[in-house]
Amino acid sequence: MADHAAAALELLPVPSLPEFRPGDDLAGAIAAAAPWLRDGDVLVVTSKVLSKVEGRLVTVPADPGERDRIRREHVAAESVRVLARKGRTLITENKLGVVQAASGVDASNVAGDEIALLPVDPDGSAAALRGALKDLLDVDVAVVVTDTMGRAWRIGQTDAAIGSAGLRVLHDYAGSADQHGNELFVTQVAVADEIAAAADLVKGKLGAVPVAVLRGFDVVDDGSCARDLVRPIEEDLFRLGTEEALVQGRAEAVLLRRSVRFYSAEPVDLAVLRKAVGAALTAPAPHHTKPLRFVLVREKRAELLAAMREQWERDLRSDGFTPEQIARRVRRGDLLVEAPEVVVPFLVREGAHTYPDPRRADAEKTMFTVAGGAAVQGLLVALAAEGLGSCWVSSTIFCADVVRAVLGVPQDWEPLGAVAVGHPLEPLVPREPLEGLIEL
Ligand SMILES: Cc1cc2nc3c(=O)[nH]c(=O)nc-3n(C[C@H](O)[C@H](O)[C@H](O)COP(=O)(O)O)c2cc1C
Repeated sequence: MADHAAAALELLPVPSLPEFRPGDDLAGAIAAAAPWLRDGDVLVVTSKVLSKVEGRLVTVPADPGERDRIRREHVAAESVRVLARKGRTLITENKLGVVQAASGVDASNVAGDEIALLPVDPDGSAAALRGALKDLLDVDVAVVVTDTMGRAWRIGQTDAAIGSAGLRVLHDYAGSADQHGNELFVTQVAVADEIAAAADLVKGKLGAVPVAVLRGFDVVDDGSCARDLVRPIEEDLFRLGTEEALVQGRAEAVLLRRSVRFYSAEPVDLAVLRKAVGAALTAPAPHHTKPLRFVLVREKRAELLAAMREQWERDLRSDGFTPEQIARRVRRGDLLVEAPEVVVPFLVREGAHTYPDPRRADAEKTMFTVAGGAAVQGLLVALAAEGLGSCWVSSTIFCADVVRAVLGVPQDWEPLGAVAVGHPLEPLVPREPLEGLIEL
């Protein structure tokens, strides 16, 4: 595609337009003020004047509190979703798909007791204005409807196109090469936004010049409109504000965990596993102790699982199960054979207090046991937050001596099951929290 740059451009303010009110004839006023419009001009119109003539003004009470309440109601009504909050400012996606502050609801350049909502269909308004000017002046102009917006990464606002008709809004350079022969793959110039911003240089904000004309631009009409500049949400890398993303992440972390029993072949990054173990070790524990040891079983995994299986089979035989029943049961242990990684958590009751009576001695034991559960849950949640699946299985608890013997760990290390870890075959999605608080 050829370059979108023009050899030279003129930006002409349209002066002496009246203060518009609902129902006024905007096209007639522009035709009267700018009879010099020519074919190929781009007429750039501040959305505020369309809001005015299209009756999108709301009268608000003088009381500042009431006024603010009504303004907030309209911001909410115009918004489809809130992306971010900064103090009292809401960044929303409005019904036009445009992401901006306060859904575009604005109190500048309107009477003191009014606020303005954006036009309902700025692309439609632009097309109607274009048609009306064709009828009135017999000129073929493109129309851009603008609004002033902040930018995520830059200080200051610029004008952008929220409506347009009669011009290609996006100039796509894909497949073109620059003068050095570099192919441009991703450059798409938002021409309509550039025109909107340029026109603001002659319209300004204070001089009651809501309309300007760009002359000299090579206008191509491909039927596109400003709506085409709205980035689809699924392509939006920044669909939430930073704070909102953090809040969502925190809220979902626990809900992401579930027992995952099927894993992809993708290897587990041990740095990630180490980080999750580090998070798990911060779990609460009695007397400021650190009673958990997490062992990543790699070289000894096959030996461990074979020894555990023999013990399991012996237990089931002594329970009176048939060989077929035993074979079916022990197949459940295959999870630990097939998981990409297996971590065995151990509880060490170092630092536990001793008591002469069974009641308190039992309570002390329970304290450490529940601390072990808290830490293992911490590991599972930390893994889920990293996108890793896990399943906590009980088996090592039932054959603690076998586990200690094969892994060569001290006698006072009590295995708390085993945790299978891997990339889930199905992506993790947060679950709905459950009801269950009992108030007494
Ligand atoms: C201490 C403990 C032992 C468990 N043992 C096994 C097990 O041996 N095999 C298994 O498949 N799941 C085991 N689970 C996982 C539970 O079956 C699972 O948590 C339960 O079905 C709820 O599903 P969810 O984890 O997806 O919420 C165990 C869970 C805990 C807390």
